[in-house]
Amino acid sequence: MITDVAIVGYGWAARMHARAAVANGLQVLAVAGPNQAKRQAFIDEYCSGAVSCESVDQVLAQTAPGLVVIASPNANHFPQASACVMAGTHVLVEKPITTRLGDAQELYRLAREQGVSVSVGHMWRYHDQVVALRDRVSRGELGRVVRTHGYGVHAKWGPSGWFTELEKSGGGALIDMGIHAIDTARFVLGDPLPVRVQASIGVGCFREDLRVDDDGLLIIDWNNGVRSLVEFGWWQSRLEGLEAETEVVGALEAAQIWPNFRMFPAEYEHCSLAMYQHQLADVISSCAAGRASRVSIDIGIIALQIVEEAYAAARMTHQPTRHIRTWEPRWHESH
Ligand SMILES: NC(=O)c1ccc[n+]([C@@H]2O[C@H](COP(=O)([O-])OP(=O)(O)OC[C@H]3O[C@@H](n4cnc5c(N)ncnc54)[C@H](O)[C@@H]3O)[C@@H](O)[C@H]2O)c1
Repeated sequence: MITDVAIVGYGWAARMHARAAVANGLQVLAVAGPNQAKRQAFIDEYCSGAVSCESVDQVLAQTAPGLVVIASPNANHFPQASACVMAGTHVLVEKPITTRLGDAQELYRLAREQGVSVSVGHMWRYHDQVVALRDRVSRGELGRVVRTHGYGVHAKWGPSGWFTELEKSGGGALIDMGIHAIDTARFVLGDPLPVRVQASIGVGCFREDLRVDDDGLLIIDWNNGVRSLVEFGWWQSRLEGLEAETEVVGALEAAQIWPNFRMFPAEYEHCSLAMYQHQLADVISSCAAGRASRVSIDIGIIALQIVEEAYAAARMTHQPTRHIRTWEPRWHESH
């Protein structure tokens, strides 16, 4: 069983992973990233005793972690995850799995070839209330599902720095926040495959200085006949609920994940540590058992495929629809 991890990056997501690792009784062996002062401050605060490394290559040369957690800017995901896979080390990569679908598929191929597990940080799949809605849907309590309506947005704020630089991020609010809403809709529906996406995406709608998308709407058609409306954005001036929510509309009844959010206590943490702990525990036990985790790489590939097709669709304003040629996950064959 894996007892230690290395963490790549030392920002918001890396903090959640380090706290989850410590809370799960794992040792953080090493922390990697280019800024020596930042990574040392991170080590002192969250995982004292960890080896401080400039790069993933240094982590792999100097330590032997059971799992590497990659929480660096998006464009680094592919080279860093591939380096781990080629060294035979299991990986959990933050979302998006990579910034380009072709890279994600290549990572999938390498992982199968090396017999290594790659998972992706779609951690909403581990939130108790998200799982509860998925279970209600699968038990048929809402009747035949017709549509979903979900969103992933930041209201009154948005990220800066690398998140807004296309080369480093691969896109704006869609690849950052919309991807969560896409994956949550898919999860609660029982993981259908996408067959079509229609998109309207805006750049610099809420913040004129932005050169990546900060607002948009997608309609996704799934192969079980359900359609999903997904909204995403940064700097939205209005938010009626939490930053992420999905409602499922069945023929008998409609239900949303967090219907009573106005009653939540002030200390309620939407992006809870518990999700990250459950995710890490599942990823680690899946590596030991040689099975796919709930967030195995194919989950990230399908979410990214929808994102990539949506960006392509939105560029074709005269015909904003893309038919999706199903990418068949074959993860189980490698075990
Ligand atoms: N699952 C989630 O809900 C969630 C939430 C936030 C971020 N994320 C993802 O986590 C990743 C990091 O996001 P964040 O919010 O922590 O960003 P952040 O900007 O807070 O932190 C990223 C850190 O990585 C460092 N860095 C830069 N180049 C690096 C490199 N080559 N190797 C290692 N580190 C490097 C930066 O200095 C920065 O400190 C992104 O992929 C993001 O999409 C996921």
